[in-house]
Amino acid sequence: MSSRPTIQTPTDPGSLPMTLPLLMEKKRLADPIVMVTAYDYPSARAAEAAGVDLVLVGDSAATTMLGYNATTPVELDDMLVLARAARRGLRTPLLIGDLPFGSYEVSDEQAITTAMRMVKEAGCEAVKLEGGGESSVRRARAIVGAGIPVMGHVGLTPQTATALGGWKAQGRSAGAAARIAAEALALQDAGCFALVFEAIPGAVTEELMALLEIPVIGIGAGPATDGQVLVFHDLLGIRDGLGARFVKRYANLQQDMNDGVTAYAEDVRARRYPGPEHTYSIKPEELDELRAQLRAGKQA
Ligand code: KIV
Repeated sequence: MSSRPTIQTPTDPGSLPMTLPLLMEKKRLADPIVMVTAYDYPSARAAEAAGVDLVLVGDSAATTMLGYNATTPVELDDMLVLARAARRGLRTPLLIGDLPFGSYEVSDEQAITTAMRMVKEAGCEAVKLEGGGESSVRRARAIVGAGIPVMGHVGLTPQTATALGGWKAQGRSAGAAARIAAEALALQDAGCFALVFEAIPGAVTEELMALLEIPVIGIGAGPATDGQVLVFHDLLGIRDGLGARFVKRYANLQQDMNDGVTAYAEDVRARRYPGPEHTYSIKPEELDELRAQLRAGKQA
């Protein structure tokens, strides 16, 4: 049992909406920050019920929701539909919209316009963008300058996974780890309110944590970060296969869904469904009257 102070009671219906100052306070208190992805109303309701701090409408929706095998094909308009649905299911967590590939890289104007659409059209309170290179940092600074909070994302950045050599851990040499450190510091300097560290050795994360003042949320980056994020479908097993090494699976919902739909199909084929309990009734005299009318109608 931890004796650390907490600033929110997760399932308390009166709990305060998450804000950026509260997030910083959580970091200061070493109170672990919980983040999860959500892409629709039911997943957002689950996040709300669990009292998580941050909800990300991730571009992982490309794979989890839309069936692509990479995150790059998802369109901004797709993300807006998903983010609006998630928004309707949330009250307390801070809602962050992921900027999809191709929606922010071209210019600062494009990045600001996209971020504003996430805020105005979907009700996101912040946005996330990938990468800590020069142009990503410039975009982050521009969006922050326009008054929209930005979360950065370094390490494995799936939008540019091909350029990084595939979906694999990053920062496994001193040089590569130092580059991630420089990117993280540059994003912090650009005004990002928090960072995601993805697929980075735990020992590297520990070294970098000492350099950073803003909250760091890890996914496959070990236990030293200020919080953790997992993809909703990964943690609930709504997928085929096991997924990345860092995923901990808390349920096996794909199997449960398959079993449920299979049982339904079997019931229909065997005429076990619907039963009397699933069927509406009508008074016998009304039925008699109907039969009489139908007979009369037939004779006419
Ligand atoms: O798109 C996403 O789900 C993400 C998380 C893995 C952080 O970027």
